[in-house]
Amino acid sequence: MEFNNVTVEVSKPIAIVTVNRPKVLNALNLETVGELGAAFSMLEQNDDVRAIVMTGAGEKAFVAGADITEFRGKAAPEMIVFAKKGHDVARIMESMGKPIIAAVNGYALGGGCEMAMACDIRFAAETAKFGQPEILLGLIPGMGGTQRLARLVGIGIARELVYAGEQITAQRAYEIGLVNRLFPADQLMAEATKFAHKLASMPSHALKMAKLATNFGYDQSLDNGLMLETQCFAHCWSHPNLEEGVAAFLEKRKANFHED
Ligand code: COA
Repeated sequence: MEFNNVTVEVSKPIAIVTVNRPKVLNALNLETVGELGAAFSMLEQNDDVRAIVMTGAGEKAFVAGADITEFRGKAAPEMIVFAKKGHDVARIMESMGKPIIAAVNGYALGGGCEMAMACDIRFAAETAKFGQPEILLGLIPGMGGTQRLARLVGIGIARELVYAGEQITAQRAYEIGLVNRLFPADQLMAEATKFAHKLASMPSHALKMAKLATNFGYDQSLDNGLMLETQCFAHCWSHPNLEEGVAAFLEKRKANFHED
């Protein structure tokens, strides 16, 4: 599938999704949001792909937010469509059975921070910057920032970032738990793809169950989350990889997992 603003490189067993509008720091216009949704849906169906890295083109930005030029003059109903499309993309990312690692190579502001938060894991360049600066435009985050940020870093720090719109350094993002790991900028992609390969080598059925139990259990009551965990746990028993994983452990050899 060809896109105008997103590139998808599949190199079995991983794929790299790049937002490719470097002249505007990879800002998200409506077309780009739609293309991201289509790209992730396509990768979910692609059996050659078991883990995904998402990044931004160029050295300056992951994604510098929604495309401010495009939304100027738009009425609220049109922007609701845009925001809901962003929500849909994030839900596709969170509910697909394959892990997505954000390789945050520069500015991750507004919708960029929101897209990074929809990824499973965030790796960042030491030079990256994060923030929800919408308040400075007379707005609030519209692609999940008011919700996911609080869930990731706690409501106190989320309020600070959303109310004041300040950018924070990658180091600060790491300290508050917004970023999993930091790397020198020139090592970021190598480290993100290395980790994607590591995840791609996991038994994919169990990895899918781990992602679904974590992502869908998180917002439930503990009892409902535990119930979901039990279902996903039980589901692992329906797959031959469990037999292989246990046999490999007992026979002191490397497991040879079945490829789904
Ligand atoms: N939407 C549309 N265009 C954007 C953009 C956005 N979110 N972010 C950057 N751009 C464009 C700039 O207008 C500029 O275009 P130009 O070369 O035609 O003038 C180009 O990208 C480079 O950005 P510039 O502002 O010159 O770079 P900088 O290094 O001085 O500043 C940022 C970088 C990210 C701090 C700054 O661009 C910025 O604040 N962007 C908006 C971030 C934001 O508010 N996001 C949330 C939107 S809801």
